[in-house]
Amino acid sequence: MKNYVSASILSADMLRLEQEVRRIEKSGIEMLHFDVMDGVFVNNISYGLPILSAIRKITDLTLDVHLMITEPIRYIPRFAEAGADIISFHTEAAEDVSATLDVLRKTGKKSALAIKPGTPAEVLFPYLDQLDMALVMTVEPGFGGQRFIHETMEKVRILREKAPLLDIQVDGGINAETAAIAREAGANNLVSGSYLFSAEDMSLAAQLVRTGSSC
Ligand code: DX5
Ligand code: ZN
Repeated sequence: MKNYVSASILSADMLRLEQEVRRIEKSGIEMLHFDVMDGVFVNNISYGLPILSAIRKITDLTLDVHLMITEPIRYIPRFAEAGADIISFHTEAAEDVSATLDVLRKTGKKSALAIKPGTPAEVLFPYLDQLDMALVMTVEPGFGGQRFIHETMEKVRILREKAPLLDIQVDGGINAETAAIAREAGANNLVSGSYLFSAEDMSLAAQLVRTGSSC
């Protein structure tokens, strides 16, 4: 199974966003992770549609949009139009997960469901065959730079056993060491923010996150 790295621009220098996007591209990173926070579902507010459209205009990177917003059904079509390639929303944020997933699938974008650390993996079971990706949060959503929660790995194992071919993404506290733990549990899509953006050599850091080897 192919492994991917998705660089979370929550840790990027916002005043130099274009240079940061070029740095991601030059580092051989496959995806740009775009965290949308509404101050309601999570206790933070990040950025939204205009910034996503601006990024879409300057890059061909896969734009991986992580919606941490309440009732995402209201905004999914607009994030799709603004240039998202993959959209994930939280089961905890949607009153009707199935209807929300239908709206997402109709956009033609890759569809993903996300769960917070306290949400059991089994919540995703009814939807697995409609998903392109499952996102297992490895920190409480809301902020970059938090510590990886090891207990979430059991959920990655459960999902990997149930869905051998599904892309499983982990997000939060991912660095070279925790990425190795997550890959071992079955994750193949690794989001990383503070570790990648603070690295002196982003390509090397991305390689370590992706496969654990520097060549
Ligand atoms: C947290 C976000 C993450 C965050 C990851 O709510 O979903 O994508 O940016 O950042 P690090 O890698 O610093 O934990
Ligand atoms: Zn995220």
